[in-house]
Amino acid sequence: MLQSEQYIDLCSSLFMKWMMEYEEAGETVDLGQWLQMYAFDVVGELFFGRRFGFMENREDYNSYIARLDIIVPFVAEALQANVSVAAAARACVEERQAAMNDPAATQHLRRDILQQMFEIHDQKGTKVDFTPKAMMQECYMALFAGSDTTAIAMRAMFYYLMTNPAVYAELMAELDESLATGIIPTSGPISYAQAIKLPYVCATIKEAMRLHPSVGLTMPRHVPAGGLRIGDQVIPAGYRVGVNAAVVQYDQSVFGPDSYSFRPRRWLEGDTTHMDRCMIQFGAGTRTCIGKNVGFPFSTDSSKMHQC
Ligand code: HEM
Repeated sequence: MLQSEQYIDLCSSLFMKWMMEYEEAGETVDLGQWLQMYAFDVVGELFFGRRFGFMENREDYNSYIARLDIIVPFVAEALQANVSVAAAARACVEERQAAMNDPAATQHLRRDILQQMFEIHDQKGTKVDFTPKAMMQECYMALFAGSDTTAIAMRAMFYYLMTNPAVYAELMAELDESLATGIIPTSGPISYAQAIKLPYVCATIKEAMRLHPSVGLTMPRHVPAGGLRIGDQVIPAGYRVGVNAAVVQYDQSVFGPDSYSFRPRRWLEGDTTHMDRCMIQFGAGTRTCIGKNVGFPFSTDSSKMHQC
C-alpha cells in the first residue's frame, strides 16, 4: 500500500483544491459525500491504477454511491445485483488484460493491486484456482470493501471532531506545534511516515474508529475440524462464529468505565497493549483488511488542513 502513497497524495491534493474553492466561493458542501468520492478515487488509484473521476467531475460516477446505500455490503446476492459496479470490475480486468498484451502499453503499467493479482494468476493461478473470474470478484469486492469503509472512518473522525471542540483544539495545537518544529511540511501532503509521528492525531483517528467501526458486522469464520472451545462453550466444527467490532470496542473491562466517551487521550496514557489487541476495526487473522495502511492514518495536506 505504501508504494502507492504518491497516488493517494494526488487524491488528497485534488480533494483539498475543491474544498478551498468551495470555501473561497462561500459555498456549502456536503462533506460526507465528498469524503466518499475521495475514498472511491483512492480505491481506483490503488486497485486499478487510475481515479474513476468522482472528484474531477464533482459527481457520483455511475451512481456508485447512491447504489451503495441500497445494498448491504458483503451480502453476495445483494452485491451481484449491482450490475453497473460488476460491469466496471469486469471492464477493469479486461482492459488490463488487453494492455498486458500490448508491448507499447506494458511499459506504462503500474504495479497496483490488480497487477499483483495478475502476477498471482500467472504464477500459480491454476494451482490455487485463481481464475480471471475470481479476479473480477475481488475487484468488485474491493470497490465496496475499500471505498465505503474508508469514507465511514473519515466521516466518523470529522463528526467526533466537530462535536468535541476541546479535542479539536488539542488536535490543532499538535498540528501548530508540528508545523513550527518542522515535523510536518508547511505545504504539500503529509507522508505516512510523518503522520504516524503525530500522537494526538493518531489517537484521534483510532478513537473515532473505536466508537464507530466502519464494518458493523460479525466478520464470520467457520469453526475448523475438531471444534472450538471459547471459555466454557464448546462449538462444533462447521459452525459459523463471529465478533462485531462495535461490541468489543465498547467493552468497559478493556477500555474503562468511560468506554462510551470520545476521549483520544486514553491512547496516550500508560500501556495500551490490551486495548490495542481488542481493536478489530480492520478485522483480524488471515482475512484482515489489505487496505489498513490507507485507512490509518489517511494522508492529507497539512497546510490546507490547517486553514479549514
Ligand atoms: C478505514 C478503512 C478501512 C476499514 C475500516 C476496513 C475494514 C475492513 C474489515 C473489517 C475487513 C474484514 C476483515 C476480517 O474479516 O477480518 C476488511 C477486509 C477487506 N478490505 Fe478493508 N477496510 C478499509 C479500507 C480498505 C481499502 C482502502 C481497501 C482496498 C484498497 C480494502 C480492501 C479490503 C479487502 C480486499 C478485504 C477482504 C480481505 C480478505 O477477505 O482476505 N479495505 N476491511
